[in-house]
Amino acid sequence: MNNQSLMDRRNAAVPRGVASATPLFVKRAKNAEFWDVEDNRYIDFAAGIAVVNTGHNNRAVTQAVTEQIEKFSHTAFQVAGYENYIELAERLNAIAPIDDAKTILMTTGAEALENAVKIARHYTKRSGVIAFHGGFHGRTLLTMGMTGKIAPYKEGFGPFPNDIYHIPFPVPYQGIDTAYSLQQLEKLFKTDIAPSSVAAIVLEPVQGEGGFYAAPNALMEHLRALCDEHGIVLIFDEVQTGFGRTGKTLASEHFDVQPDLITVAKALAGGYPLSGIIGKRDIMDSPAPGGLGGTYGGSPVGCAAALAVLDELESKCLNDRAEAVGSRLHQAFSELKELNPELPIDHIRHKGAMIAFDFVVDGQPEPRHVPPFIKACRSKGLILLPCGQFGNAIRLLPPLTVENHIVEEAIDIMRKALLSLR
Ligand SMILES: Cc1ncc(COP(=O)(O)O)c(C=O)c1O
Repeated sequence: MNNQSLMDRRNAAVPRGVASATPLFVKRAKNAEFWDVEDNRYIDFAAGIAVVNTGHNNRAVTQAVTEQIEKFSHTAFQVAGYENYIELAERLNAIAPIDDAKTILMTTGAEALENAVKIARHYTKRSGVIAFHGGFHGRTLLTMGMTGKIAPYKEGFGPFPNDIYHIPFPVPYQGIDTAYSLQQLEKLFKTDIAPSSVAAIVLEPVQGEGGFYAAPNALMEHLRALCDEHGIVLIFDEVQTGFGRTGKTLASEHFDVQPDLITVAKALAGGYPLSGIIGKRDIMDSPAPGGLGGTYGGSPVGCAAALAVLDELESKCLNDRAEAVGSRLHQAFSELKELNPELPIDHIRHKGAMIAFDFVVDGQPEPRHVPPFIKACRSKGLILLPCGQFGNAIRLLPPLTVENHIVEEAIDIMRKALLSLR
């Protein structure tokens, strides 16, 4: 068995709509590394797209899952409940910066967003949803509608559910500041939807797929004030930013204001499908019994994994580790740029271990460097992903448990690949 033969079988058996970011097929993985079926070793700076924050094959997570599977793996929580769902809800309620919270568990990130909007609509008895350009919220019909990027997510899949609107997300170096975003929101209220018809405003505290841009505190404060004034539900989508990734257990903790609802998934269960919505008690309790749920929502196996993930975050101080790893990578790119000003990279940024830089030529986004750079890194054993509205950003999502010597090895690979672009 080799990568090519599996790719041939994949192409024959699986539709091309599921992309392949790499031509690799994995045999085994450990912490921040995986080995393909040809026994080539790779450093994994994609972390399953921000999922294995606690590392591949984390021993505590695997043990918790194994113990749970030996007891039972599924009953459907709405048929016969189990304690670890309740315990996880209690812990998430305590972690989230929301006073008096309740939590419902689902399976995927998109499902969490779908349900957050359902809850907000039920509570407000309104339908409008406002999201942001460049935001990514999933691939179901509603979440595709909320996603603020056409190719490849929305192309050919319309029409989308109506009553969804988008405004610019502040990215100051692209000429969009908080004041401009808020002006566009006020304009939207005048031209397209009255604030009294808006159920929810939804945004990522740090845009993920959109380019690793952190929302300014001032934006969050203004949105909070507007939502309070007009009775709108404010939703922070923490599917990518959650569980230590930004240097806090939840990125919402970076802000001086509280959201009404928080959606979580990905790193919550360290690789097992589990998501959730944490929110204010009166909002969460609005839908009647049976209005929310799903066969696999809050799987006991996922809950067991998530409780172990929360313990690992705490006992290994992974929030601090995220900041340390992010700062080191940021510093390495800054030094490289300083020593080699002709390198076509700019806008190096990080929020914890969400680290990114852009390829820029003559002040303009340059996506053409992205595929050769990613390929060069992969040929030396480092997995990276692109992101951003212009496709010119490289994002780094190392497991937070990554060892220092692996970080240095990755830096060396990227340094050589960047210098070879000159
Ligand atoms: C911020 C954000 N929201 C929602 C989603 C959708 O999650 P899922 O792919 O689990 O449906 C993603 C996935 O990348 C995401 O990054």
